[in-house]
Amino acid sequence: MDLGLSKRKFLITGGSSGLGLAAARSLVAEGADVAICGRSEERIEQALDSLRSDGQDVVGFRADVTDPGAFGQLREELSSRWDGVLDGLVNNAGEHTSGKFEETTDTQWYDDFDLKVMAILRGVREMLPLLRASSAPAVLNVLSVFAKYQYKNSMPSSMFRSAGLSATNALARDLADDGIRVNAALIGFIHSDQWVRAAGTDDAQAVQEYEDNRAQQLGIPLGRAGTPEEFGDVAAFLLSPRASYLTGTALNVDGGLSPVI
Ligand SMILES: NC(=O)c1ccc[n+]([C@@H]2O[C@H](COP(=O)([O-])OP(=O)(O)OC[C@H]3O[C@@H](n4cnc5c(N)ncnc54)[C@H](OP(=O)(O)O)[C@@H]3O)[C@@H](O)[C@H]2O)c1
Repeated sequence: MDLGLSKRKFLITGGSSGLGLAAARSLVAEGADVAICGRSEERIEQALDSLRSDGQDVVGFRADVTDPGAFGQLREELSSRWDGVLDGLVNNAGEHTSGKFEETTDTQWYDDFDLKVMAILRGVREMLPLLRASSAPAVLNVLSVFAKYQYKNSMPSSMFRSAGLSATNALARDLADDGIRVNAALIGFIHSDQWVRAAGTDDAQAVQEYEDNRAQQLGIPLGRAGTPEEFGDVAAFLLSPRASYLTGTALNVDGGLSPVI
């Protein structure tokens, strides 16, 4: 199936690693132009080296999505680069933050709110003029299955993922008149750099063992962590004109982990 993504233009926050990079790969493979952003210049350069493809525009920007001015700057850069048009925004930048409730601090709560809620709202608001200029605009919020149900010691992440889910639903309604579709991917447990860091080693076999154990502990019905490619392809579809009747929806990408559909 041709997804109709050739020459379309996308911004992926946190596209320098893990799931964001996988989404970038899938989009580039479909002929799209892709901009990624992240905080580490080194990670961005490594990602760009792996993404560059003849005839397509692949570009990286250093940006912290919790900085209130970041999306305004990105909009200016992309507007002049891509003639004022953006076909899709992937709000993916993030990290898992959770712990024992009574040990959480106000600073952790505010920081996580900035990262998981304000970054989505600012990202969409600042990119609106560019998205409105697209013939098939789409937003994809990368959240977690824990947006729909909580587990012990899961805050603040799980609470703000629920807010991200509400924002997806509300934005889908608010932006439908502009033809902008807004959907969410709810991630269960997918291999990425954050799990390599959690495993505490770069050794591929040790990381695999760590992920197999975690998949078993979580009770994932398919019995394993997902692969970044499995996410990337779902993202490309949701962002494509072939998903033209999907908006305000959240797709579990979780190997069956979530008891809530
Ligand atoms: N993988 C999973 O199993 C899983 C499960 C549930 C939810 N998720 C969500 O999926 C998204 C991607 O996670 P991942 O697993 O791919 O993690 P990852 O491999 O650690 O990648 C995270 C990406 O986000 C960027 N980033 C983090 N904070 C940022 C900030 N403030 N501003 C700009 N960029 C930032 C990172 O680059 P820099 O550090 O250089 O900025 C990196 O490119 C996250 O929102 C995560 O919470 C993942």
